[in-house]
Amino acid sequence: MDSDFVLFPPQGSTLASKVDAIFFYILGVCLFFTLLIATLVLYFAIKYRRRSEAECPRPVVGSLRLEIAWSVIPLLLALSMFAWAASVYYEIITPPEDAMQVYVIGRQWMWHLQHVGGQREINMLHVPVGKPVKLTMTSQDVIHSFYVPEFRVKQDVLPKRYTTLWFQATRAGQFHLFCAEYCGTNHSAMIGKVIAMEPTRFQEWLAQRSDGSLATEGRKLFYSKQCIVCHGRETPRAPLLENLYLKRVPLQSGEQVLADDEYLRESIVNPRAKLVAGFQPIMPPYQLKEEEVTQLIAFIKSLGPGETPPRIERREPPVTAPP
Ligand code: CUA
Repeated sequence: MDSDFVLFPPQGSTLASKVDAIFFYILGVCLFFTLLIATLVLYFAIKYRRRSEAECPRPVVGSLRLEIAWSVIPLLLALSMFAWAASVYYEIITPPEDAMQVYVIGRQWMWHLQHVGGQREINMLHVPVGKPVKLTMTSQDVIHSFYVPEFRVKQDVLPKRYTTLWFQATRAGQFHLFCAEYCGTNHSAMIGKVIAMEPTRFQEWLAQRSDGSLATEGRKLFYSKQCIVCHGRETPRAPLLENLYLKRVPLQSGEQVLADDEYLRESIVNPRAKLVAGFQPIMPPYQLKEEEVTQLIAFIKSLGPGETPPRIERREPPVTAPP
């Protein structure tokens, strides 16, 4: 599909041409049948018009072959749309494993974005070209929707839970970012830009803006909010957090749950929702900003698996990041 096609914003991601192809396929099928039916209606109306007052046409008996054809052909066409769209949908909702992580918080009326290295942005998202980027998104108040037309991706951003979205920019440039869910007075001003840069330039950008990573911020919170008192090694009144991320956790209820972002988030803000087997419901629900929750989750992730876990010990003074 020509990327300069004027009806649409120019394509800017690997998903864009796939979404457009389905659109044009469905449009093509619709146009074909619309024209076919309209033409035949006109043609038959003229061909079989009543020629005299006395004319009485022969009754039509029906045709099994014709009836099967007009049932089976549309069925196959509809199924082909379904199968094709489902496969692309699956691709859209399945971020590649090696995707770069970015946290997004929507709030009335701005986008707050944070990179794993701690770089924060408001209404602006810098990403590298040619690398998959995965957004983990939540809202601080009402429902918003993260929409980048050039990338052909749109995903609701909901309070109290995480949704994800991914894309891979195919060219450097600036792309519109919209909120696509009416979220109050200044909804229309909840706009921004995604800036795709060549990977080397992106690395420079990241390096310039690096200030304490998300995990470091989370580690500070972990001490300042006294989480260490129960989650420490010496007095394990609460589950240890080392190597917890993406592990299967046995619950009091006998079920098991995967310790992913969503589970960690719930366990921080509503600790009694999923009680880990062998522990008492003693943790109070914490009133934290969404930003702080993502920092804590980044900290838990940094405790492994995959990375060398910094040891959690009691009475360790909070780490202060260089300004
Ligand atoms: Cu946020 Cu509309």
